[in-house]
Amino acid sequence: MGTKVVLNADVSRGKIDKNIYGQFAEHLGRCIYEGLWVGEDSLIPNTNGIRNDVLAALKNLNIPVLRWPGGCFADEYHWKDGVGPRQERKRMVNTHWGGVVENNHFGTHEFMKLCELLETEPYINGNVGSGTVQEMSEWVEYMTFDGESPMANWRKENGQEKPWNVKYFGVGNENWGCGGNMRPQYYADLYRRFQTYVRNYGDNKIFKIAGGANVADYQWTETLMREANQMMDGLSLHYYVHPGGFWNKGDAVRFDDKEWEISMQKAYYIEELIEKHSTIMDKYDPEKRVAMIVDEWGAWYDVEPGTNPGFLYQQNTVRDAVIAGVSLNIFNNHNDRIKMANIAQMVNVIQAMVLTEEDKLLLTPTYHVFKMYKVHQDAERIALDIDTKMLEVDGAAYPQVNGSASKAKDGSIHISLTNADKDHQAEIDFDIRGVDFANVSGEVITSEKMNDHNTFDNPDKVKPVAFTAFENKGGGLKVTLPPMSVVVLKVTI
Ligand code: AHR
Repeated sequence: MGTKVVLNADVSRGKIDKNIYGQFAEHLGRCIYEGLWVGEDSLIPNTNGIRNDVLAALKNLNIPVLRWPGGCFADEYHWKDGVGPRQERKRMVNTHWGGVVENNHFGTHEFMKLCELLETEPYINGNVGSGTVQEMSEWVEYMTFDGESPMANWRKENGQEKPWNVKYFGVGNENWGCGGNMRPQYYADLYRRFQTYVRNYGDNKIFKIAGGANVADYQWTETLMREANQMMDGLSLHYYVHPGGFWNKGDAVRFDDKEWEISMQKAYYIEELIEKHSTIMDKYDPEKRVAMIVDEWGAWYDVEPGTNPGFLYQQNTVRDAVIAGVSLNIFNNHNDRIKMANIAQMVNVIQAMVLTEEDKLLLTPTYHVFKMYKVHQDAERIALDIDTKMLEVDGAAYPQVNGSASKAKDGSIHISLTNADKDHQAEIDFDIRGVDFANVSGEVITSEKMNDHNTFDNPDKVKPVAFTAFENKGGGLKVTLPPMSVVVLKVTI
């Protein structure tokens, strides 16, 4: 069976929040240290200690929002250890991630500089698990209070006269697990208490994000929404694709046909999670005021052989490109509730955008998908209906083709499509309604083998090229997606 796609260009489905294309950077492995921060004295060219090659690559993604400092690290992070003269900062053990020494050289000021250089909105994740209400409250005061106060004065002494704008603030992370092993009712009460002291100073209005559920823990969402929805602006959701399961996740590169299929099916599973958690949210918040914030997602495999198991360093193949494409289409299509998503993680950790090795850098297939999809940021979603073949693995079905579409301010239309079948192309009859189009162009990312990936010796093995496998057909298009591919079409009027 071929695939039928109908685009109704004049049927709007609301704005796709640009924050769906957000990122996450944790003090984990070589994400912050080496990946982003090399220090001002490094031989690697840098701006205020942040490496220039990584900055330049990331700038091209128009990253709208960046979550920091964790993750699990957030609930062990004491922000006061990370401000003031660097040489005097406290050294601590990063117990979650490899037991390495954290010298706190990258703290609040360095993170805010990174956000400024990337022109991205900071999303700070506070510590509920091992922190105090006072500590969280003082962090907000330190960052955002404009006037005389103990924390604002300290910030000025540390070189930052003006307060920063901090819009997004997370009150704890994974508090059902590494963030304190709490039960939902207990966390809901703690959330209510901690968030009380996350103050709005001056014009700075904080969007408060409560720590949400792990995967299919619907009871967590139910409890948080029932007990605290009026005190939150967002509720998070975490989901990772582990083809082999949580303990033996599977290899990032050396995987077989079946693992490909399981990975695709598990990537699609996030749609069921979004719909079921959303249904619970709808019960308490039919107006959809509280956003779903998917602030950790991605494909998480075993670490690269020979690397520190606590550093979560993994390679990234064309499989990851398709997983990213599928996931982002699903997020776009749930733009009524999802207002932010943050892939884990930006550099050198899990499904990263860029990998570094000393002074070398490579762009991953996932990076390229984010670059291709950035056209959807803050664009108007338009109706796209797909009727495609169902594929199957171990009795679980998943669609061969998925997609999403949006209209940019200049009227041009972008359609992103994925083909999850690694052996067969997808022949699409594409009906374009509601618009007379003049021109179609596109980009595709695919590769010959499913394990293909970029290395420091061969950094351009998997990268986008112009897409030409389409022809006009009586007001519509005939489009052929190659096996295991992500395509973005641009339709101009
Ligand atoms: O992204 C890696 C870890 O995964 C995060 O620290 C934690 O929140 C999640 O379990």
